Amino acid sequence: MTSDTPYPAGFAWGVATAAYQIEGAVDEGGRGPSIWDAFERQEGAIFHGESAAVATDHYHRWESDLDLMAELGIPAYRLSLSWSRLQPRGEGALNPEGVAFYRALLAGCRARGIEPYVTLYHWDLPLALHERGGWPARETAVCFGEYAALVAEELGDLAEHWTTINEPVCASFLSYSWGMQAPGHRDETEAVRAAHHLLLAHGLALAAFRERRPQAKLGITNLVSNLAPASEAPADRAARDQVDVRFNRVFLEPVYRGSYGADVVAVFGEHGLTLDEVEGGLVRPGDLALISAPADFAGVNHYTNTLIAADPEGWGGARMIQVEPTPTTFDWSDTPEALREVLLRVSREYTGLPLYVTENGAAFADYATPDGTVHDPERIHYLAGYTAAVGEAIAAGADVRGYFLWSFLDNFEWSHGYSKRFGIVYVDYPTQTRIPKDSAHWYRDFIAQHTPGRTS
Ligand code: FCB
Repeated sequence: MTSDTPYPAGFAWGVATAAYQIEGAVDEGGRGPSIWDAFERQEGAIFHGESAAVATDHYHRWESDLDLMAELGIPAYRLSLSWSRLQPRGEGALNPEGVAFYRALLAGCRARGIEPYVTLYHWDLPLALHERGGWPARETAVCFGEYAALVAEELGDLAEHWTTINEPVCASFLSYSWGMQAPGHRDETEAVRAAHHLLLAHGLALAAFRERRPQAKLGITNLVSNLAPASEAPADRAARDQVDVRFNRVFLEPVYRGSYGADVVAVFGEHGLTLDEVEGGLVRPGDLALISAPADFAGVNHYTNTLIAADPEGWGGARMIQVEPTPTTFDWSDTPEALREVLLRVSREYTGLPLYVTENGAAFADYATPDGTVHDPERIHYLAGYTAAVGEAIAAGADVRGYFLWSFLDNFEWSHGYSKRFGIVYVDYPTQTRIPKDSAHWYRDFIAQHTPGRTS
């Protein structure tokens, strides 16, 4: 027995991935194209013009990948379903080959003693729906609700925990306003419309899933960044609040408080967000009740610890600076107290629901040495700190029930292509060889030591 661990019984230690970043096989099994397949082809969209057409070839290698996960003693796996593999045009009956693939994958997890945690949407919108307006169009949210209903029927027996949407902030602002993710638009009004419709999609999916699978545990995952003003100057403090509204509060307030709140409306009112629900408007009667319907858990993804300085040229009049950037290849920081603060903030200010850290991790310049090993002491340092921070948040009162490390495998890091390695398993892309990094062995031992009731 390990009695000194801060993590409660049943705590889910896991790893996370997303379909588009690992599966490859974009033209196989009846899959339809998504906005990412199209975005990749835009000049300059992806680092070095790279593509996820093969990625880590997980579509063909999923069995040995799950074998490796089991060998590493990882008890929980957060994965996403490709909407366009299941519903190639985003509407109509599910594609039987897609259903068969995911049934085999989910059953394969369970057969190996790995509990799957499934995400319905991790950014790969069917291209056909984009052509009909994408997330700025309300119809996309309606289609997502229908897709969720079909998934509940055909796959809902194979997992207990289901996340509707991963990081609406990225699927809206980074995608429709910043232009750095698919579909690469630069229009703030589109981004705000997308944000509301992604939340509505969450609400519609939650209701549809709940009706068909009353036992399922359902929630949404938000990216929550830790934000502090760069100085005590009033302009920096105001800039910090602007970014908090735009990055965090616009998503947390409607989901957990049932209203966008006056500060959010002050920022985005000109783009259609309203306090009252308006017939024919962006926020329509009934939307907020759907969006804030009781969930079973709150997903929190956390990566960045950011200082905000006033900058009239920046988004929302602000410039973001990472606290103590480290040699992570993103210049993000290794400051675990930020995760503790984020978990405490969400639990104190927003929700008493069980929290899951659905993603946390860092990219380093990992490479295989001639003897075929990969040494990543930086990642071990990072993980030791962040897992301890989760323990501190629990000790301070946050009800955290799980931690999913991003990522199991090195993979296609969206617009950064293959240049960012987040995995605890190294992937040699030309040969698709998998090499567990030192951090994978560290995580295996850590899990064994911190699983209450399990002797190590
Ligand atoms: C998150 C994404 C995930 C991965 C990590 C590094 O924002 O959800 O797919 O790209 O960042």
